[in-house]
Parts: sequence; C-alpha cells; structure tokens
Amino acid sequence: MSLKSKTSDLRRRMSEAIKGGGDVAIEKQVSMGKMTARDRIIALLDDKSFFEYDLFVEHAAKDFDMDKKRLAGDGVITGTGTINGHPICIYAQDFTVAGGSLGYMHARKITKIMDHAMRLKVPIIGINDSGGARIQEGVNSLAGYGEIFYRNTLASGVIPQISVILGPCAGGAVYSPALTDFVFVVENISKMFITGPEVIKTVLGEEISMEALGGARVHAETTGNAHFFATSEQECFDQIKDLFTYIPWNNKKKADPFPVKPPQTKNFKIQNIFPADPTTPYDVRDIIRSVSDNSDFFEIQELWAANIVIGYARFNGETVGIVANQPMVLAGVLDVDSSDKAARFIRYCDAFNIPLLTLVDLPGYLPGVDQEHAGVIRHGAKLLYAFSEATVPKITLILRKAYGGGYIAMCSSHLRADFVFAWPTAEIAVMGPTGAANIIFRKEIMTAENPDAMREKMVEEYKQKYANPYVAAAYGYIDSVIELKDTRKFITHALDISESKTVTHFDRKHGIPPF
Ligand code: HXC
Repeated sequence: MSLKSKTSDLRRRMSEAIKGGGDVAIEKQVSMGKMTARDRIIALLDDKSFFEYDLFVEHAAKDFDMDKKRLAGDGVITGTGTINGHPICIYAQDFTVAGGSLGYMHARKITKIMDHAMRLKVPIIGINDSGGARIQEGVNSLAGYGEIFYRNTLASGVIPQISVILGPCAGGAVYSPALTDFVFVVENISKMFITGPEVIKTVLGEEISMEALGGARVHAETTGNAHFFATSEQECFDQIKDLFTYIPWNNKKKADPFPVKPPQTKNFKIQNIFPADPTTPYDVRDIIRSVSDNSDFFEIQELWAANIVIGYARFNGETVGIVANQPMVLAGVLDVDSSDKAARFIRYCDAFNIPLLTLVDLPGYLPGVDQEHAGVIRHGAKLLYAFSEATVPKITLILRKAYGGGYIAMCSSHLRADFVFAWPTAEIAVMGPTGAANIIFRKEIMTAENPDAMREKMVEEYKQKYANPYVAAAYGYIDSVIELKDTRKFITHALDISESKTVTHFDRKHGIPPF
C-alpha cells in the first residue's frame, strides 16, 4: 500500500469511528435537545485545541452476541486540549453508542485519560451521558467503575475534577461525580439517581418522574449534589470556563492573576447596602461585591442551602474563597446543609492554596427537632473541623451578629483565623440579648411588678454590655474594630502580608473529620 492509500485508509477509518452510533442515534440525541459528545468537547475547549486519543479502541466482550457488534470508540471520547489557554484532560460519554454504557474498554479509556491528568497535573473533566454499567459485560463493568472511583479519590486535592452531567447518570455511576469537586447540571437534560423511577415503583409502589426524582433542579436546589445549574449546554460550558479563571490548575499552582480593578462603588457601596437597623436583612453578596475587585463574585451552589454563601472573588487580582452567612435566608443560621456546603468548600480552598475570607452575621445554629435528628451535631462539626484544619491565610470579618457556637464556627481566632476584624455594629455574645436576659435575669423579671418593663430594661442592659465588639476586642479575640469604609483596605493588606504563611501540624497520616 502506498503512503497515499494508507493515509486515505486512516481517514476512512477515522470518519467511520467519529460517526459514533450513526445518523439515527445522533438524530435522536439532537431531537432531545442534546449535543453530541464530540460537539460538546469542541464547544467547551479553546478553538481547535482538542486532540483525541484511543479513537480505535474496541470492546472485547463476547457474550450476548457482543462479539458481532462494533461500538465506535467503545462509547466514550477521550483527549486533551486547553481551556483559557491552559491544558486539561477530558472524556465525554457518547450516548449514541450503546447508550454510553460503561464496559471494560470504555472504562479503560477513562482511567487512562485520568492517569494522564494526574501525571501531567492538569484538571480532568468528565462529561457523563450514559445508561450506566454495560449490562452485557457484567462484573467487568463494575470493575471499571471501581477503577474510576479509586482514581477520583487519589486525584482529590491534587488536580481539579469536574463532572458535567449531560444525560442519564444512573446507579453506582453517580459516585464518580459525587467524588469530584464540581458537578454541573443542565435543566431537562441531566438525570442522576441511584435507582430509577421503575425500581422505585416496583419496590415501594411510589410513582415519580425521572425529572422530579433526579433532574437538574432537584440536585441544584434540594440534594446539593450539583454545584452549578444551567438552562442550556452552552451556558453550562461558559460556567466551566468562568470557574477555571478562578481556580488553580493543580495544587502546586496559583490561578492566573487578573488585572486589579477597584469595586464598582456606584452600584455597590457598603454604607448604602448595610442597613442601619440591626434587625433588617440584607444580601451579603452585595457586601462581597462592595469590596471585591471589579465587584465580581462567582457563586457556587447558589440554589442550595442559601443561608450560607460560598464562592470566589478576587482581591488585588488574586482568587479568594468566600464563606458568608446570608442574613436574607433564615437569618443566616447554620444548619445541616449549610455546614456541609461550607465545610467542603473550605477543604477545596485549603487543598488548592486559596485564601479564605469569612463574613459573619448569624444568630447561631438552627434550633429544632428536625435539625437535631438530622445530625446537626455531626454536620456542624464538619465546619469547625474544616476551618481549624485549613492552613491557608484566613481572614474573618464580623459584620453584625456572632452568637454562640456560630461565633466560634465561623472562623474565629480560636480556630486560628489569622486576622479577625469587626465592624462597630458587631455583636459578639453567647446568645441574643433577649434570650440571654430571659435566662440570667429570670428571677428579677418574674418578681418584678411589671415583668415586661423589667425584661426590656434587662435586655437593654445586656445589649449595652455585650452586644458590641469591644468586649471581644478587649480580650484580643478581635484584631481591629474597623470602619465600614476601610474594609477593602484591611482585607487586601491582611491577604498581602499573609502570602508566605506556613503552618505545620502534628505528624500524622491524616485526621478523622466527622464525614
Ligand atoms: C447496555 C444499554 C444500557 C446499559 C442503555 N443501553 N443502557 N446497553 N447496558 N446499561 C442501550 C440500549 O439497549 C439501547 O441500545 C441504547 O443504549 C439506547 O438506550 P434507550 O433505552 O433506547 O434510550 P432511552 O430511551 O433514552 O433511555 C435511556 C435510559 C435507559 C433511561 C438510560 O436506556 C435505561 O434505563 N438504561 C438502563 C439503566 C440502568 O439500569 N443501568 C444500569 C445501572 S446499575 P440499542 O441497541 O437499542 O440502541 C449500574 C451499576 C454501576 O450502573 C455500579 C457501579 C458501582
């Protein structure tokens, strides 16, 4: 064969392989409002940056007439490319080929690209669109999943791991995304569940649609399994590109610095946002925007456990992880979900050397039988653990209430915040003035001629004494009480001087967080 004919043979083989499951299956995919696997990769990566590998891999199964079937690329596309000019490894399951089901060679392709990502220290992105374990391949499919989960665990905290759910992701298959750092879902397209509606109906007699059981909104709002919700695949890809402007490429690198721009104080001026009345709620995201570079704030898990806000902002061009109570939702209390949400984010920031800024305004942990029985003790402890364990620079600002366990948990100096600042509006105490007065002055109130007037007097007395930042400042638990207008100045200075912070913990294999 001449070089020319060998080249055309290669081209023929390639064009056959990239057809995936063929025209009918592709049409079905597109009619469901979904892109094909290859189009997804091309839409996500920088223009013309994608290089594909293992295009000619074929399955090795024999049973159930599998030896008579050829599955293009064995239902998954793998390769490397760039996003924002930086290298990444990627795989995308191709639903048009045997429903993107995962057999032995399919899994081998995924684990091979994951191994590349770990060796090259670049992020790994997995686009999931699959009917799960390839039923015909039995235990080999299960082995494939196990190999993926193991690598997800090894890669955790070393390289960013992104899961994009663009179709079904069912059964044990959901555990790879669950082990990764950021899960992206798209309305009407993503479906994630351990057991589907049919099984639920058979076993429990309950009827539920796939969307109501494990659709995008369910995971973005109710379960917290998803970190980002989009209404189209393109919007989802734009979110991923945005995220990559904030996070480092691996745990030894820093995110690219951005040009420093001051906050847009015309729209976000602290003094206009922060209410004069201490009982009026406000949106803490506006406070973040009033101090961050260019007033940018990239929020994560916006729709779930909204009583705590997490995300990235920049100060002096560098990424900072923000954890903030949200007074607009449940007065910003800590509960099971908000503790989980914040704790995982803190551990991500710590693993990737992203400094933390904590904004505090909360009445404490949410009381109630539901919370107690849902394990608020165990979940709440995750937050204490995560903040205590984190060795990145930790800056805390107390805006208003910092009561009880909430004061300690929100990165107080006792959990080794490097700098704790407080506005003059801060109230730091064991509990709110009314609750406190009712307990410590109970006798005086009960025996008074006018109990209500006495209660009011005692509440006022308690407020005067404790509902301010100065008692904590007198003990040095707060480093500075600062004016609102000076907030950005103090934060940027604290971050600048903390740059070479190093902390050494006890020599141990690892701690045992209350997972
Ligand atoms: C083999 C599969 C498959 C699978 C789909 N297909 N899932 N082949 N193994 N798991 C094939 C179909 O036979 C069909 O092939 C093609 O993919 C498209 O599937 P359809 O059913 O026609 O598509 P659709 O109607 O859109 O339905 C999608 C679906 C459904 C909801 C995902 O296919 C489905 O329920 N699949 C099974 C899901 C499941 O129970 N998976 C196992 C989960 S347990 P043809 O040749 O007709 O085009 C699991 C354990 C993992 O994953 C444990 C890890 C620890």
